[in-house]
Amino acid sequence: MSDYQTIEVTHDGPRSTIQVQRPDKLNALNTTVLEELEAAALDLQTRDGLRVVVVEGEGRAFVAGADIASMAEMSAEQGRAFLRQGHDTMNAIESIPVPTVAAVDGFALGGGLELAIACDLIVASDRAAFGAPEVKLGIIPGFGGTQRLRRMIGAHRARHLVFTGERIDAETAADYGLVLEVVDADDFSGHIDSLASSIESRGPLALKAAKRVMHQGQDLDLDEGLSAERQAFADLFETEDRLKGMEAFLDRRDPNFNGE
Ligand code: COA
Repeated sequence: MSDYQTIEVTHDGPRSTIQVQRPDKLNALNTTVLEELEAAALDLQTRDGLRVVVVEGEGRAFVAGADIASMAEMSAEQGRAFLRQGHDTMNAIESIPVPTVAAVDGFALGGGLELAIACDLIVASDRAAFGAPEVKLGIIPGFGGTQRLRRMIGAHRARHLVFTGERIDAETAADYGLVLEVVDADDFSGHIDSLASSIESRGPLALKAAKRVMHQGQDLDLDEGLSAERQAFADLFETEDRLKGMEAFLDRRDPNFNGE
């Protein structure tokens, strides 16, 4: 448990869960939520034994966007500081060294969509809805959406979402490649639990290396990316975990990784 006011971070062995908790405002991101999310992400970046992180929202929204009521009162200078905080927060989430899962069981709009795409995997319930409605407010996505969305679903679909501001349902989001899978809302938490369990049972050093190399590769050419892959693979060959993993396979039992 944590001392935050607008989020809660819980730990269960190798899994940590961050829940945004402003359900009466559909978990809209004001400065406090952004600062607390950044602090939580920075804290998780150095947490021993962590293997997977789930990000979710309380109630009927994942996150319905940046807080419009706060933004309406901001000067241009305050708006710039808010954006800077938004970027710092999403970068901190993206830099959590283990796989992160956005569990979207409701609205993921604007900053909520941007929070989801700062995570590695997005799983949606069948009542989830996604969108980048900022142009309806006379602004553009400002917490990384103009950049990360294109990387995740390609330029054409990213432009469609950003130019129209229209919402799409979970099935369409899956069609776009934005969502990994759509799950019945009644089975949602069980499904997230089994996905997180599957990830956290794998080699912890391998999980971190895989995430790091795949992220690096987005901004490298193929040769540089393959070189990063070779280096990470060679480093893993030096670890006890890879011996444990391979011996367990040959002995037909589950491995017992210890992250060394
Ligand atoms: N910022 C601030 N408050 C928000 C919010 C946001 N992004 N999204 C929802 N809320 C608040 C509403 O103002 C309302 O507060 P109130 O009860 O004090 O009036 C509460 O959350 C519930 O929202 P409401 O609009 O009554 O729910 P709904 O089911 O009718 O509609 C949405 C849900 C998500 C369609 C609608 O709230 C919406 O369009 N939100 C804004 C989405 C957006 O533009 N996000 C991008 C911002 S950059």
